[in-house]
Amino acid sequence: FPILRWTWRLMYGSALAGVAYVCYGIYEMRNPNDQPEPDAAKKTLVILGTGWGAVSLLKKLDTENYNVIVVSPRNYFLFTPLLPSCTTGTIEHRSIMEPIRNFLRHKKASVKYYEAEATKIDYEKRVVYINDDSEIKGDISSTEVPFDMLVVGVGAENATFGIPGVRENGLFLKEVSDAQRIRKRIMDCVETATFKDQSPDEVKRLLHMVVVGGGPTGVEFAGELQDFFNNDLKKWIPDIKDTFHVTLVEALPNVLPMFSKQLIDYTEKTFKEETITIRTKTMVKNVTEKYIEAEAVGPDGKKQLEKIPYGLLVWATGNALRPVVKDFINQIPAQKDSRRGLAVNEYLVVKGTENVWAIGDCAVANYAPTAQVAAQEGNWLARMFNKMAKTHEIESKLAELSVAQEKAPNKETRDRVFEEIKDLQKRLLRLKQIGPFEYTHNGSLAYIGSEKAVADISWLSGNFATGGTITYFFWRSAYLSMCFSTRNRILVVMDWVKSKTFGRDVSRE
Ligand code: FAD
Ligand code: NAI
Repeated sequence: FPILRWTWRLMYGSALAGVAYVCYGIYEMRNPNDQPEPDAAKKTLVILGTGWGAVSLLKKLDTENYNVIVVSPRNYFLFTPLLPSCTTGTIEHRSIMEPIRNFLRHKKASVKYYEAEATKIDYEKRVVYINDDSEIKGDISSTEVPFDMLVVGVGAENATFGIPGVRENGLFLKEVSDAQRIRKRIMDCVETATFKDQSPDEVKRLLHMVVVGGGPTGVEFAGELQDFFNNDLKKWIPDIKDTFHVTLVEALPNVLPMFSKQLIDYTEKTFKEETITIRTKTMVKNVTEKYIEAEAVGPDGKKQLEKIPYGLLVWATGNALRPVVKDFINQIPAQKDSRRGLAVNEYLVVKGTENVWAIGDCAVANYAPTAQVAAQEGNWLARMFNKMAKTHEIESKLAELSVAQEKAPNKETRDRVFEEIKDLQKRLLRLKQIGPFEYTHNGSLAYIGSEKAVADISWLSGNFATGGTITYFFWRSAYLSMCFSTRNRILVVMDWVKSKTFGRDVSRE
């Protein structure tokens, strides 16, 4: 049968071509091309941060147009939406990290990267002071970086509202090191609770896992932790099965305030079924080594102070300004009323400055501090910088052409140059029509545990709210597709398969 033979050959050929294509992709990834050094005559663009905003900007930026310098204490990009899964080992932290060096090495023109923290932006002098905060320091660990253009994308730090004892006793969930600390602390509490002759009260305290803040970070972590207990801990350490307990404490009357009412109710119902206690209208006022003090509003509307003992305390009460941002705000008179971040205009320019832009959680542009917003701002700014560079290029070309037109030896040449000028002027006009930044909200997604997720999706200028197991698969596929690289995607899938097949690792590193 020749048709079968040809079909077989075609399939075989396509498979071979597919394998060759993947191999070439990997080869290209592992063997980047040489990059031209930045042209010193070009403007120096300094980018602070390697988070969602900064990396989205760098992804789309034509780096050959500027001398690009990136400063960040974190030499990798972190895919934060899957960070709560790292606290229990559903996903290993390296699977959601992408080294900034690999990424920058694939840009067309080379980009300088300094692993350092920006400690001060001196707007008058147009310099950023940077400090090497790592363990190993060379002879020089502080210096300054001059800039012509500056993008501030340093994100935010954890809010504590000055509540005593939070920093000393609580754990945050923002960075990889936080997730590692939480993972270790969970197992430490469990092993200490099963220590010989531990009193029942102490066992209860050690196995009480308290999460403060009912925003998406707190809810997702509480869900992941309860999964860890249900799927793994209680099987391997049955002694704790009647005592391990997760409580979520929230000052407002409900959790997940940014989601629709229907999804808030669904989340609260799911938590109840999972035996996670939600303490709403309960505001934590003080934290000690072994208990939190919270002011709870009772059903009669009366406030009472309560002591809640805990073994693990995860503090997830939102964002606060980083010191470098606070200091910058204080230098700019137009920023005197900025409380939550750098006030920016619709072109993301920091109000009261020229050639300084702010993106992501450190900027206030009337949007929620989310990865979605930061990424769209970064993308938009890259497009604008690319257009600005082209505009500049065309303007120089136009200046050259008008000289050439004046010096043209005959009419024919003059007409040709005139036509060229007309074309370039049209292009310039098109380029200069840069509309302001506009955010498109694609929806909100959150994992709530027991293989359920909630989603408020913007669709056809309406809103579509859904929760459950199908939404969970949607949540997984959405975040998988958003992972930084194919390498990340493969690693995350492998982690999911590993934890589903063998269970999560309960050893304490
Ligand atoms: P970041 O991503 O925080 O990056 C800031 C960068 O600046 C980092 O590289 C940091 O090292 C660097 N930096 C810090 N200080 C300095 C300094 N002084 N000098 C130079 N560099 C500095 N959002 C969503 O939309 N969907 C989600 O599902 C979601 N899940 C989340 C889960 C968790 C656990 C957390 C914590 C957040 C989540 N978010 C989510 C929010 C999202 O991560 C942030 O809104 C987003 O990271 C903001 O991006 P950014 O670039 O402003 O800041
Ligand atoms: P958040 O600001 O969204 O929520 C913090 C919660 O803590 C608030 O509900 C607040 O009422 C509560 N709180 C504050 N002080 C308290 C106290 N003393 N006692 C008790 N409760 C207190 O913070 P979160 O969850 O850290 O998120 C930060 C940002 O990141 C948000 O913009 C969020 O949308 C985004 N994010 C988005 C995710 C998603 O889309 N899946 C996941 C995680 C974060």
